[in-house]
Amino acid sequence: MVGKREKEPALSSIKDRSSEAAERQFALADPLARWQADHHNFARLLDLVEQQVDAFRADKRPDYELMRLIVYYLRHYPDRFHHPREDVAFTRLVKRDPTLQLAIARRMQEHAVIAWAGEELLNCLDEVLAGVVIERSTLEAAAASYLVYYRYHMAAEEEHVIPRAVELLTATDWAAVAAISTEPDPLFGTDFDARYQELRRHIDRISKEAE
Ligand SMILES: [Fe+2]
Ligand SMILES: [Fe+2]
Repeated sequence: MVGKREKEPALSSIKDRSSEAAERQFALADPLARWQADHHNFARLLDLVEQQVDAFRADKRPDYELMRLIVYYLRHYPDRFHHPREDVAFTRLVKRDPTLQLAIARRMQEHAVIAWAGEELLNCLDEVLAGVVIERSTLEAAAASYLVYYRYHMAAEEEHVIPRAVELLTATDWAAVAAISTEPDPLFGTDFDARYQELRRHIDRISKEAE
C-alpha cells in the first residue's frame, strides 16, 4: 500500500512565498548595504584621525584642517542621517525581540554620547585653528576618547546588532529604515559637497597608494 501523499502546496502559494522572499531581499539590500558601507567609510575616517593623533604624539604637526573636516563630516552626516536610520531599525528590532532591549538602549545612548564627544573635539580643533593656545593633553584626550568610543560603538553594532537585524527585520521594517532619509552622502557619495573636495582627494590618493 502506498502511503498517504502529503497534499502538495498550490502553485500560487509557492509563487507568493518566493515573491515575498524576493521582496524582502529587495527591501533589505539597499538599507543594509548602505548601513555597512557607512561603517566602512567611518572606520577609514577614524583611521585618518588616528594618524593625525599619532603625529601629534610624535611631536610632528598634525593636519588640524584635515582633522576638523573629518570630525565636521562625522557630526553632520552620521549624527544626522546614519544614527537616526539606526534608531528606527533598533526600535523595530526590540519589537521583534524584546530581549534585545538593554543592548539596544545602550547603542542608542551611545549615539548621543558620540554626538557630544564629536562636538567637544570639533570645538577643540576650532580653537587650535583660531590660534587659541590649549593644553596639548586636552586635545589628545578629546581625540583619543572619540576614537575609542566610536570604534567600540561600531564594533558592537557589527557584531551584535546587524546580524540580528538581518535575521529579524521584515521588508516593512527595512522600508521604514530607508524612508528616514534619502540624503546623499556629502563625502563618499557620487555628488559630493564642494566643502569636502580636499578630503575626498586625500582619501582617493590614499586608496590608490594602497592598491
Ligand atoms: Fe550607531
Ligand atoms: Fe552605525
